[in-house]
Amino acid sequence: MANNQQSATGNRQRFFVDADISRAKTIDKAVYTSQEIFDEMKEKIFSCSWQFIGSDDLIKEKGSCYPFPLLENYLNEPLLLTKDETGKINCVSNVCTHRGNIVVYEPCQSANLRCKYHGRLFQLDGKFKSMPEFKEVKNFPTADDDLTQLPLFHWKKFLFTTLNQKFPAEEFLKDMIKRMEWLPLDEFIFRPDLSKDFIVNAHWALYCENYQEGFHIPFVHAGLNALIDYGDYETELFFPYSSLQIGISKTGEDCFDLPASSPDHGKKVAAYYFWVFPNLMFNFYPWGLSVNVVQPIAVDKTKVSFLTYAWKEEKRNAGAGSDLDKVELEDEEIVQHVQKGIRSGFYHHGRYSVTREKGTHLFHRLLAEFLNA
Ligand code: FES
Ligand SMILES: [Fe+2]
Repeated sequence: MANNQQSATGNRQRFFVDADISRAKTIDKAVYTSQEIFDEMKEKIFSCSWQFIGSDDLIKEKGSCYPFPLLENYLNEPLLLTKDETGKINCVSNVCTHRGNIVVYEPCQSANLRCKYHGRLFQLDGKFKSMPEFKEVKNFPTADDDLTQLPLFHWKKFLFTTLNQKFPAEEFLKDMIKRMEWLPLDEFIFRPDLSKDFIVNAHWALYCENYQEGFHIPFVHAGLNALIDYGDYETELFFPYSSLQIGISKTGEDCFDLPASSPDHGKKVAAYYFWVFPNLMFNFYPWGLSVNVVQPIAVDKTKVSFLTYAWKEEKRNAGAGSDLDKVELEDEEIVQHVQKGIRSGFYHHGRYSVTREKGTHLFHRLLAEFLNA
């Protein structure tokens, strides 16, 4: 179990990471090893944060239905995306309000939703419509018989939802949205053939905190280091729930052609690496976007889905956004070693580089804040 520590204000807190990075110690290592904390994170971190669903290409036509489990190996919440007759996209619970059957098993086209167990019928927005053999039932139907509607946030063609809305989606996403406003995201096409999953034998938080510092690039990613200028590798923090790192090209080739409306106009940007609390990464390259969804499986096992959205296909084999598999395998290898090392009785806490580990420090601060809540 985590050690209680004294915060600057004198309150006893279960987890504590000093706001002053120059004084701070890294978060309690129990975060990466305890089954109890792993389970607790479902409620305290994942249910109340915004999760990436995919693009609206999943439900192109009116009447399209797309069932999916939210974080399949962890929250495993059955949800359903639909596009109703008005063209509105809905995200509803995919669990029948009668006896709990899954309503839609496979992606399909349909004017309404009929449960295959006893025939309960719903509209595409989840509203109860009818039910056989229920004439005698008193006080029926009520709002409880509708499929629960979940909040849905649209960022152009990309869709996000949350199981337990505690925060507006903008608090998590607004800085990225603003920075990339100039980008015609609607031209980005999902490419399942270029997307893949990686299984990493490490805690999800180790994978995320590794992403949030470029400090390791010269040591772990020699190939990438040859392409981007480490000295110019900037970390910009966007409080409260996201961060951005910008990779500047060494050669000036394979960069974004940034319009005057971009705050980075004139810079040789090879990649934008956005992280959104707790588990989302949006990597923009001149060829398009690679979204990484980090999905916990077990304390020491994580699935990372790399979802590819191509824009300028011809640029895919050059620059910082090429050879992503190689970079991924290098990251996997290092975090798997950390997972083994962090259990040691000789390891307790680390410290942060003030210049190079601001993102990791922010991440640890947020873990502590959410777990303490
Ligand atoms: S469980 Fe759906 S109609 Fe019975
Ligand atoms: Fe890395």
